[in-house]
Amino acid sequence: MRKKIVAGNWKMNTTLQEGLALAKGLNEALKDKTPKCDVIVGTPFTHLACVADAIDTNKIGVAAQNCADHEKGAYTGEVSAAMVASTGAKYVILGHSERRQYYGETAEILKTKVNLALANGLTPIFCIGEVLEEREAGKHFDVVDEQIKGSLFDLSAEDFGKIVIAYEPVWAIGTGKTATADQAQEIHAHIRKTIASKYEQTIADNCSILYGGSMNAGNAKELVSKPDVDGGLIGGASLSVENFMPIVEAF
Ligand code: 13P
Repeated sequence: MRKKIVAGNWKMNTTLQEGLALAKGLNEALKDKTPKCDVIVGTPFTHLACVADAIDTNKIGVAAQNCADHEKGAYTGEVSAAMVASTGAKYVILGHSERRQYYGETAEILKTKVNLALANGLTPIFCIGEVLEEREAGKHFDVVDEQIKGSLFDLSAEDFGKIVIAYEPVWAIGTGKTATADQAQEIHAHIRKTIASKYEQTIADNCSILYGGSMNAGNAKELVSKPDVDGGLIGGASLSVENFMPIVEAF
């Protein structure tokens, strides 16, 4: 059966010291607990190695928020998938709408990043989602299909089986405006169908599809109660243990 996952995306927040304190706090909060989902923290690059060192990585997975679209070499300022993996991180968030929107990441670039992540043993948490105008025009199903096809459908079934999908409607990110549980269920079921149309039904059934966009302690339970919502990718509410733990405990 597919995994339930609650992943934090800290984005460009926390100094190293603050991030380390947050990760240790979460580690402490989970110490005597057995959560019913996998827990992941997506930290800035600068924090990865320290955080991975400071926590029980059997209990909390560590994710980068990006990686380079080249293997190695003269790409000043970039961080490769191999470098991410060498920190102890096991995951990498790819295709976040902020990367697509502010840094021009195209389907083609993301395809390369996904391949490099997989080649280096990282699990991609691949983000998709429509902007408000697309939803209002009823194009959201087509948008997510294109995003999946454009970056993931050249993968072998074996490699696709390693991907985690995060559906994040752009209009719900950081806005306090969440998709309703029914809206999330509807499109998650659609995404699973799209996967099944290319790969086998079992691959689709085993793919974890997370919801992201203003998910918090108040709405997490209802969202994850839906059969095709396998967890969450959490921005703002992942920045404190008090706000993040109730989402982990929503399962
Ligand atoms: P918020 O939870 O702050 O809306 O952010 C969601 C997100 O973008 C996670 O990747």
